[in-house]
Amino acid sequence: MKNNFIKTTLIITLLLSVNMSKSQVVVAKNSPEMDKKWWKEAVIYQIYPRSFKDSNGDGIGDLKGIISKLDYLKSLGIDAIWLSPIYESPNDDNGYDISDYRDIMKDFGTMQDFDLMLKGMHERGIKLIMDLVVNHSSDEHEWFKQARSSRDNKFRNYYYWWPAEKGTPPYRWSWFDVNSNAWKYDAQTDSYYLHYFSAKQPDLNWNNPEVRTEIYDMMKYWLDKGIDGFRLDAFQFASKDPSFPELPKEIVGHPVEIIKFYGNGPHLHDYLQEMNREVLSKYPNVMTVAEGAGDSPKAAMKFVDPERKELNIAYHFESVDIGKHINDFGLVNYKEIFSRYDQEFKDKGWLSIFMANHDQPRMVSKFGNDTPEFRELSSKMLTTFVMTMRGTTFYYNGDELGMSNIRFDNIDDYNDVDTRNAYFGLKQKGGDLAAFLEDKKQTSRENSRTPIQWNAGENAGFTTGKPWLKVNENHRFLNAEVQENDPNSVLNYFRKIVKLRKENPVLVYGKYTLLDKDNPNVYCYTRELDGKKLLIALNFSENNATYEPGFSLEKAKINSNNYSELFVDNKNNTILRPYEAMIIEIN
Ligand code: GLC
Ligand code: CA
Repeated sequence: MKNNFIKTTLIITLLLSVNMSKSQVVVAKNSPEMDKKWWKEAVIYQIYPRSFKDSNGDGIGDLKGIISKLDYLKSLGIDAIWLSPIYESPNDDNGYDISDYRDIMKDFGTMQDFDLMLKGMHERGIKLIMDLVVNHSSDEHEWFKQARSSRDNKFRNYYYWWPAEKGTPPYRWSWFDVNSNAWKYDAQTDSYYLHYFSAKQPDLNWNNPEVRTEIYDMMKYWLDKGIDGFRLDAFQFASKDPSFPELPKEIVGHPVEIIKFYGNGPHLHDYLQEMNREVLSKYPNVMTVAEGAGDSPKAAMKFVDPERKELNIAYHFESVDIGKHINDFGLVNYKEIFSRYDQEFKDKGWLSIFMANHDQPRMVSKFGNDTPEFRELSSKMLTTFVMTMRGTTFYYNGDELGMSNIRFDNIDDYNDVDTRNAYFGLKQKGGDLAAFLEDKKQTSRENSRTPIQWNAGENAGFTTGKPWLKVNENHRFLNAEVQENDPNSVLNYFRKIVKLRKENPVLVYGKYTLLDKDNPNVYCYTRELDGKKLLIALNFSENNATYEPGFSLEKAKINSNNYSELFVDNKNNTILRPYEAMIIEIN
């Protein structure tokens, strides 16, 4: 298939001409277009603080580091920052194991630094969304220390316990446990405690109203400081049946349908409604997004249907859980997911659009092509995708530079609890460790956690000390400094597309229509609002490709393109070069 550019594709059959007049665009009552909100229009940029910028040479990114980059953040044109956890934590899972919800991790700085950072963001018109990690705490949280000390401690019921005299507890899967077992025996009280994530992340018992009150108070504490919202970490797993019935035999281990058996517990939506009543409704301008949103578009809707009064934005995982690389799972399947979700959400509720975060490999390494030839082009194409779909854009730090997977060879290079514990679990079982490491080069979330590449100097300008995680060698040529000065850089393209989104409400609120759905190479869709219609055509392949919009584009105006020059022979605008992204004005 490589480079087999088929001349005949130039002879494009006469296509239907488009006939959209203003009068045909009817904005339905109660449609999302009628219900404008800042968080629908926002481009949200995720900062992974440990890897963003180190200010004091200890090799760990920190709040002062973020403060030093506020003007950079402002220059991106983004509206809000989702900051991964910065609370006090022993760092078993890099801050997703919290030992004090009301204090700042020492590695990251002080509450004074936090206040300054927040002020600096607000002065620049940037909002701050904090991570809310309350499915579990750290085992070093005072609540857990108390709870494990005796069976009648007043905090005992803050967590889930299974007394050993009842026998071995019914099996539950754990993501990060070496043996994948979510129950850990604790000798002090001769009981097992539950941890869906690592053994240092015991699950909080949401059935206990005292736990819920504590969490709501803590949320108010941060909201009163002036933060602008929360991302609810792993919250779909928060509600559990405390009797822990045996699971069907065939799903013991990691069930494919994990959400069905572990998510959407019996009271999940009661808790969200209570949280809304007790906290969120009192801060009407804040936004909330749940990590994970059930196992279907209908389930996702339940989190954000405005009538239900729960959260604002649904963040589902179908489009990242689909596989290792887009060449494996295929663009057609990928398009189907987004289109199916959009269909459910076309009249109410609101989705997020993202391709990466701190739990995923790098966007360009999974959905694009990170070889020297195509890394920049495909990064720009993917950025075009996330900025032109309907839903709030969540964009992960470093992707605006086109950062790519580091691909560690050795387990010692990994810090991540997920990758390491899976490796040691496999080792115990005598599994194929070489194959595991090979797979992780493509899939490990550590790939996206390497330090941000600020310049070509030592440690990419991230730290003057020894970085906590290796810096990608490609920082010599792939870094913010060189890209600042290049008008065609990935970074400057990102700025341009963010601006385009901000200036065109059609890209936020406009109706989404998938075109040429079975085309295996091109993702092509229109967005329409109030008589304005844009066509977005994205070539996800490394060869030239054509698409059939179903109407003529001969007179259409190219609004934006990720190549520095347009393809002059492209009479109908339906030929795309490798990883080409076009935004075309129809009306
Ligand atoms: C979420 C976080 C992830 C973390 C896990 C446990 O999935 O995004 O980083 O390891 O929850 O808190
Ligand atoms: Ca530091």
